[in-house]
Amino acid sequence: MKKWVKRLAQGFLALLLIYGVGRFVVVYLGSFYTGERAPYLMMPAPNAMTLRWQTLQKGEGQIRYGRSLAKLDHLATEMSSAEEHELRLQGLKPGTRYYYRIENQVDGETAKTLYSGKAYWFMTSPKTGQAVSVRFAVLGDPGKAGKVQTQVREALMAWLAKNPRPDRNRAYLDLLLTTGDNAYRSGTNKQFQVDFFTPYASILKNVPVWPAYGNHDARRWAFFDIFSFPTKAESGGLASGTEHYYSFDYANAHFIMLDTTASSMAVGSKMLNWLQRDLAASKQKWIIAAFHHPPYSHGSHDSDNPHDSGGRMLDVRKNVLPILEAGGADLVLSGHSHMYERSWLMRCNYGDSSTLQANMIREKTLGRTPPYKKPGRDGFSGTVYTVIGSSSKHDQGRLDHPDMPVSLAESGSVVVDIANGLMSVRFITKRGRVADHFSILKTPATGQAMRCAPLN
Ligand SMILES: [Fe+2]
Repeated sequence: MKKWVKRLAQGFLALLLIYGVGRFVVVYLGSFYTGERAPYLMMPAPNAMTLRWQTLQKGEGQIRYGRSLAKLDHLATEMSSAEEHELRLQGLKPGTRYYYRIENQVDGETAKTLYSGKAYWFMTSPKTGQAVSVRFAVLGDPGKAGKVQTQVREALMAWLAKNPRPDRNRAYLDLLLTTGDNAYRSGTNKQFQVDFFTPYASILKNVPVWPAYGNHDARRWAFFDIFSFPTKAESGGLASGTEHYYSFDYANAHFIMLDTTASSMAVGSKMLNWLQRDLAASKQKWIIAAFHHPPYSHGSHDSDNPHDSGGRMLDVRKNVLPILEAGGADLVLSGHSHMYERSWLMRCNYGDSSTLQANMIREKTLGRTPPYKKPGRDGFSGTVYTVIGSSSKHDQGRLDHPDMPVSLAESGSVVVDIANGLMSVRFITKRGRVADHFSILKTPATGQAMRCAPLN
């Protein structure tokens, strides 16, 4: 081998080694983030709410809370000293606003106030089954701090401010859902701080978050340490016994959060058996499912490629969709592909993009005016699939999946409104434009499941 080629190869290997060691150090050190983390809300229920925060100094956390800012007449206190704090407030009234003040008590000294004032409030969930309006936002693959993430967040907030709910006593958002990949690139605790908690702090202190589990979140262990998920149906639904997948209720909507990243999606697997039982047990009017890997996408990931993402998009389509559709799912939220794609009101396509048949599309309109009409909880009466993966960046892709008549290489977020039997879904771009808008109108259930033609 010529001397210069050998030198070049050695130089390249040395650079690779330096890069590898550098990344290892960044990821390793970032896994043990110690620093402040502003309060965030989890596991809302009609009579409970979990608050979490992190302090620089070890101490016993306490929360003073009440229905008026001037009268924080309840106190919840931690039993031991720590930097990571978590308190679940119990015995609250449904659909009610509470103000809170967070304090830290170090070594028996007078408690020091950390967070207080009129900006610190939350609202408990309405009674389960109650037909009140619901408004939630969806951020997809939001975990990359920077200009795009800021633009998307500000465009969402501006749209919400310009289009307030008719009832001003309600929160500006009831819930915040994500479709996973909440902290790039390795899901370290520090990356969660820089790329998720800091940029969304102003929302997270008032609006409970339900983050889906993405492949980047799974690179380290922070995700399950820093978020609290129901294992015993603390927020409604059927207890799953695991933080990886679970369901919850909010007013008359039932939400299902699945783990398409690490849990088995084989037929007969624990998650799918639970999913089937959960759907059978729920009497809620609306069914919304959220998870990371999309069943249909011609975006930065290709759902037709059985090897893309370890075949997890294929598993979702083949094994998860038949259960969701039989159970009457209305809306499916996913991410992973960094764009926005949205399907027809459809059913029964468990193959790739070549297996779509005309009779799988329930209504060949875009569902704005008139809205899609869908009977009650009848099985296979149609589901809309969305890919929302561009809340912090967008990538390139073919964007020509025939199941997805709306495919946009645009960054943005989604707002879902439910009121009076109508669900309206809007995709709001980083420039504040409503680039997609569809609605589903619930008509009386016929009590009959429709049929899917079996796949060849
Ligand atoms: Fe992903």
